[in-house]
Amino acid sequence: MEAQAINPHFPTTLNSKNRNFMAKITCFPQSPTWVSCKSHNLSFVPEFGTSLKKDLSLRSSCVVKAKVGSDGGEELGEGVSRKNLAVFVSGGGSNFRSIHEAILDGRINGDIVVLVAKCGGANYARNKGIPVIVFPKTKSGSEGLSPHDLVSALRKFKVDNVLLAGFLKLIPAELIRAYPKSILNIHPSLLPSFGGKGYYGMKVHRAVIASGVRYSGPTIHFVDEHYDTGRILAQRVVPVLVTDTAEELAARVLQEEHQVYVEVAAALCEERIIWREDGVPLIRSKDDPDKFS
Ligand code: GRF
Repeated sequence: MEAQAINPHFPTTLNSKNRNFMAKITCFPQSPTWVSCKSHNLSFVPEFGTSLKKDLSLRSSCVVKAKVGSDGGEELGEGVSRKNLAVFVSGGGSNFRSIHEAILDGRINGDIVVLVAKCGGANYARNKGIPVIVFPKTKSGSEGLSPHDLVSALRKFKVDNVLLAGFLKLIPAELIRAYPKSILNIHPSLLPSFGGKGYYGMKVHRAVIASGVRYSGPTIHFVDEHYDTGRILAQRVVPVLVTDTAEELAARVLQEEHQVYVEVAAALCEERIIWREDGVPLIRSKDDPDKFS
């Protein structure tokens, strides 16, 4: 497969030929080192031989993760392998998109191998060739996985870390047990303030403004079995202006969210998160390994 010829920003359709078949394959660049390819002709999969990293059946289509080039750069530094990420979203998905863009730019040593969405409407992911699974079950029960099946699906996708990006449902204990110290969430206030059940979306920003605090900002934390109580890993501060509406404050916080989540995802994928003796997670600086934040 001529993967190196693929434009890094757009899906490309290739005709793959060998002695047994000819299949139309759509390839989606996912990072500087790999593309995912989709074809409805499942029979081509075994023919990819050594370049085939994995194949995953997804409804009637098939997704293949194929390495780009012969020296695909799968390793970073001293044996730090690329990480497989699952991103969970419920709504707009702007954090998901900014993480995906950072992966395409080579800023994160990982790949989004699956998007988990609360409902089926994850068009950005589908257009980029990222498999989408629905969790939890929809009200009609016609779509969506049980917690047990969700864990199995993530295992099947060989997920190393889960990034919650605006996912509104409580994460089931089964998933937390299956991925200890491996699930992150972003919350749009400086936790532990303005967090917990009921604090989501504009409700957070309205409460922040009503309280009179002068600063707000996103928090990234590890996920435990409750809303917003896991160990804090990173925070950014923005001013709360006296004239702010909830929407204006939300936009200022969201801008910081996009930056901090990319930085944290990069640190996670480069294995730069360490745990202090008292259980507080820290990020080791990339430039100065003796510095932590
Ligand atoms: C963000 O404000 C995030 O902090 C919160 O939900 C929102 C998601 O935004 N958990 P988006 O879907 O990433 O645009």
